[in-house]
Amino acid sequence: MSTSEVNVEQADLLSPEAVTDPYPLLAALREHDPVHWSEKYRSWFLTRFDDVTAALRDERFSSDRIAPYRRTKLESPDSDPALRAAFGVLEDWMVFKDPPDHTRLRKLLSRAFTPRAAGRVQPRIAELADELLDKAIEAGTGRTDLIRDYAYPLTASVIAEMLGVPREDHSLFKDWSDQISGLVFGALSDADRHSRGAAGMAELTGYLSELVRAHERRPQDDLLSALVSARDEGDSLSHDEVIATGVLLLFAGHETTTNLIGSGVLALLRHPAQRALLESDPGLRSGAVEELVRFDGPAKSVVRLMAEDTELHGRTLRRGQRVFLVLSAANHDPTAFEDAERLDITRRPGRQLGFSAGMHYCLGAPLARLEASIAIPRVFERLPGLSLTEEPLHWSPVLLTRGMERFPVRFDAP
Ligand code: HEM
Repeated sequence: MSTSEVNVEQADLLSPEAVTDPYPLLAALREHDPVHWSEKYRSWFLTRFDDVTAALRDERFSSDRIAPYRRTKLESPDSDPALRAAFGVLEDWMVFKDPPDHTRLRKLLSRAFTPRAAGRVQPRIAELADELLDKAIEAGTGRTDLIRDYAYPLTASVIAEMLGVPREDHSLFKDWSDQISGLVFGALSDADRHSRGAAGMAELTGYLSELVRAHERRPQDDLLSALVSARDEGDSLSHDEVIATGVLLLFAGHETTTNLIGSGVLALLRHPAQRALLESDPGLRSGAVEELVRFDGPAKSVVRLMAEDTELHGRTLRRGQRVFLVLSAANHDPTAFEDAERLDITRRPGRQLGFSAGMHYCLGAPLARLEASIAIPRVFERLPGLSLTEEPLHWSPVLLTRGMERFPVRFDAP
């Protein structure tokens, strides 16, 4: 489809075609309507690389979007107390803060969550990946679901182990995290998602509160203990902030990485020459992961609220309006990447925006890269004859993230 065939006026990123493959629509928006107003979502959508990059570094594009929502929608005495509490936790997430609160939280978390801490789990990632693939092979059917049975349990276990969550409790996190996902990524008006999200958040914070107290009493060599003891110029995280940050890490730590492992394997299955190249030279792994994030990464957009009226390409973004900075559109912008629609694991996509840019640049990027660079090649090594099944792939119909709900594959059974 050429970009002129797409009706940008009616552009809907959640139409079934755009959920399956958003790139033709994003190309049309980038070319014909780069500062796009969507009446349906009452939001702006920016799609050009230069505009998105500039907005990510511009303080007029504010990340502080939970506090205003809580003030306007949840202050009334008849609002649901569980929902108020859940939004109270989200309000402590650094990703929803502007300076100076963001600067303070990010410094404290950076003391605990270092690239070195991520590097230390390297052997565990490989071990867990093998355990899960062993199970898929031993089942003897030559079929598995790479999201449900591999990427999800792998990434969830890695971050849970890093934090210091006991192994027998890892399975609890799937439901809680799915429920919270509705709060973070779902439509703000969806009452059912809200009540489920609030319930999941209450259970998870209750669980973590106990765990944090245990770590306060007896520190261990893990991330929760490091968060409890993180200090910066006499400052430290409060008990509630440690819990909120624990929830953020558990949540941010696996949802996105799961989707990267899924879409990364899919992209390589669809580009066998690139896959063969990767298999022939393990030295290409880290560049390949970066390119897979650029090519079809998990973070479709990040959201900002306008802190003041701002002109862009002749349009006025008004104070208080919501703006989607569409990272996946920027990452396919031909002005920034040569032959941008082509997967090329040898390119050096150093400027790709899949982990954002500026002050909110993903703190977990080193861990995500490590997990993907082990988990993706491992699937091809361990499951010979890997291919798609006849089942269609279903992508999650959400504006902010891109990921498959299930990823059924077949392979040669031993
Ligand atoms: C492929 C996997 C991942 C992708 C694509 C990704 C993407 C992103 C993006 C786009 C942001 C910026 C949001 C914004 O600008 O508003 C972000 C922030 C963040 N990510 Fe990730 N992420 C991934 C994995 C992880 C992992 C594994 C962790 C931790 C265990 C993590 C922790 C964080 C944190 C703490 C922030 C907030 C940083 C801040 O606000 O300063 N992420 N991530």
